[in-house]
Amino acid sequence: MNLKQMVGIEAASYIEDGMIVGLGTGSTAYYMVEELGRRIKEENLSVVGVTTSEATRQQAEGLGIPLKSIDEVPHVDLTIDGADEVNPQFEGIKGGGAALLFEKIVATYSRHNIWIVDESKWVEQLGAFPLPVEVMPYGSQQLVHLFEKEGLNPVLRVDADNNPIVTDGKHYIIDLHCQVIAEPRRLADWLNSLPGVVEHGLFLSIVDTVIIGKESGIETIQKHAN
Ligand code: 5RP
Repeated sequence: MNLKQMVGIEAASYIEDGMIVGLGTGSTAYYMVEELGRRIKEENLSVVGVTTSEATRQQAEGLGIPLKSIDEVPHVDLTIDGADEVNPQFEGIKGGGAALLFEKIVATYSRHNIWIVDESKWVEQLGAFPLPVEVMPYGSQQLVHLFEKEGLNPVLRVDADNNPIVTDGKHYIIDLHCQVIAEPRRLADWLNSLPGVVEHGLFLSIVDTVIIGKESGIETIQKHAN
C-alpha cells in the first residue's frame, strides 16, 4: 500500500453515519473516496457526499455514493481533501489539480477539514510548490504582466496542446513560482483585491487536522485552538 492510499483509508474512518461529507480532489483524495464507497456498501453507512470537482463527482457516482451539491445542504460536517503543501501553522497550498475554487467553497462551509498528505508535502515554509491562482479568462494576460512585474514568476497553466486549461468553473489558472512565501496572509489579501482573480490556492485558516503518511507510519496532527 502506498502512502497516499494509507492516509486516504485512514481519513475515511473519520466519516460517521449520517454525515454530510465534502469529498476532495486529487490522487490522495481518490483513495478516501474509494474507501468511502466500500464502507457504504459493506457497512451500510449512510452519508451524503458533496464533491469538489467533476472528476470526483464521476468517481463518487460510479461508487454509488449519494451526492448533493453544496447549495442543497445546510452545512458540511467534514471535508477530507489532499493538499500540495502544508506548514506547521496549518496553512497550505492547494490547487495542483486545478480544483481549488470548489475545494475552497466546500471547505469554507465545513465544520471540520482534514487534509491527507504524504510526508513530502509537510514543509517549514510555503512556496516551493507553485501557487495556483484561478482567474477570469478576460484580463488574464494583464494579470500575468502584473505578476511578472511583482517578481512572482507567473506561468499560465496549459494542456498538452498548449491551450490554457479550463477549470470546472470555466476559468484559467496562473501558477506563481514564488519559491518562498514569507507572508502568506499578505499575499492572500493582495490576490483577493485584484479584479479578475476568482480565487487562489492559499488555504490559511481552514484545516484543523492533518493526516501525514510517512514511511514509518501514519501521523495525525490536530490544530489546537488557542
Ligand atoms: C486539487 C488539489 C489537490 O488536493 C492537491 O493538488 C493534492 O493532490 P494529490 O493528492 O494528487 O497530490 O488541491 O486542486
